[in-house]
Amino acid sequence: MPDRSDTPHRLDPAGSEQHAVNERLRAQGPAVPVILPGEVASVAVTRYEELKEFLAHPDVAKNARHFTALREGAVPPGWPLTTFATVEGMTTADGDDHRRLRALVTQVFTPRRIEGLRPRVEELTARLLHALDEAALDAETGASVVVDLREHFALPLPMAVVSELLGVDPGMRGQLHQLSNLIVSTTTSPERALAANRAMAGILGSVVVRRRAAPGDDLTSALLAAQAEDGDRLTDRELVGTLLLMVIAGHETTLNLITNAVRALCTHPEQLALVRAGKADWGDVVEETLRYDSPVSFFPFRYPVRDLKVGDTVIPRGTPVLASYTAAGRDERAYGPDASRFDVTRRPSVRHLSFGHGPHYCLGAALARLEATTALAALFDRYPDLALAVPDDDLPRHPSFVGNSTETLPVRLRPETPQR
Ligand code: HEM
Ligand code: HEM
Repeated sequence: MPDRSDTPHRLDPAGSEQHAVNERLRAQGPAVPVILPGEVASVAVTRYEELKEFLAHPDVAKNARHFTALREGAVPPGWPLTTFATVEGMTTADGDDHRRLRALVTQVFTPRRIEGLRPRVEELTARLLHALDEAALDAETGASVVVDLREHFALPLPMAVVSELLGVDPGMRGQLHQLSNLIVSTTTSPERALAANRAMAGILGSVVVRRRAAPGDDLTSALLAAQAEDGDRLTDRELVGTLLLMVIAGHETTLNLITNAVRALCTHPEQLALVRAGKADWGDVVEETLRYDSPVSFFPFRYPVRDLKVGDTVIPRGTPVLASYTAAGRDERAYGPDASRFDVTRRPSVRHLSFGHGPHYCLGAALARLEATTALAALFDRYPDLALAVPDDDLPRHPSFVGNSTETLPVRLRPETPQR
């Protein structure tokens, strides 16, 4: 029975029970009122078809000047999603502004450049696996000890890759990494998040200065060259903002994808066996993970620029609307009655929406796919007996409703009994 409760769902900042909550919201309708922290009224678009249409709708904007409650001062000071909503850059730009900011990046962040990164991604993966190996072995007994795969593998890889891509010197990467974690952690105060943002912009600004003086083979140098050719299309401030967006948007997301894929394979060994038997490849695993356990859960915000009907709900103009990517991935209307089953041989007739859809479609999708397929292939090749070290139900959730993952992923790389 559809839940027709009149009390809107309160989004839990800790994001607990994500799939159960999504199931309830989907049952309520394609567009469901929810209350955000700070008592801000929002609507979540939860079903596949309606979300796809909404993401590409001409009367839906991303710029916060359309956010009525914010404009009218009804959003409390220090609200946790203020920066997300109001940051300048392509993610909050519409129409021509958006095209202008995005064009330069699309011009240089080409499939060829991404493919060119493959050997480096493989090398970085191998290096991280080597370090992981040492961390997971008891030097005295030779026994396998538990390691957190999220912290030691899924997390450092995307940051190393994006640093490589942007031309950040190795000496600065650790700092970039810490700052990115601070910005996206929901436990960071708004003041600290802002300070971290400034510090990151400072580092990336120095990369721009350095690359302008001594261009390299990196994306920052390519952006500078394209900018010079095209006249003053982007200001330096916009350029730094673009680099910052790439760091932020590519970090937590790819981390969640790798974590969620390893978790799904460990809890579905028969699916891993299908990959080993050649019935599916690592690309299939990545696509199915994106659908089954989307790394991005409730993505903030879009604003209808007029009252807009989605299903039988009218979303008033200026309402901050969440794109419920994790919910859409398990919509039975799109994927059939077994939508909640992890099945690497599924090859569904409709593509998941986990990289978004429409003008803001993820710019880094090809890079994310390259990273995740490389990471998973190398990991399971090296550790065929990789297993979760705790029952799946005991895995703590990453406390966020924007991201969707576990806080840690404790694993044993090798069987518990010493091999020698
Ligand atoms: C796993 C998914 C993600 C999580 C958990 C996450 C989380 C967060 C959080 C908590 C903030 C700080 C909010 C604030 O201080 O107001 C933030 C900021 C931001 N996020 Fe995300 N985010 C995710 C995915 C994305 C994606 C896909 C994009 C791409 C459009 C993105 C772009 C941004 C930007 C531009 C900011 C503002 C950063 C700044 O300048 O301080 N995020 N994110
Ligand atoms: C598994 C990994 C990733 C996932 C799941 C993901 C997901 C997404 C989603 C859902 C959006 C659209 C947000 C919206 O407007 O609703 C987005 C936008 C974006 N992503 Fe990704 N992303 C990933 C990796 C990356 C990487 C590696 C990069 C860059 C290095 C990147 C750069 C961006 C940028 C720049 C945008 C903003 C595009 C725009 O507003 O026009 N992402 N991503």
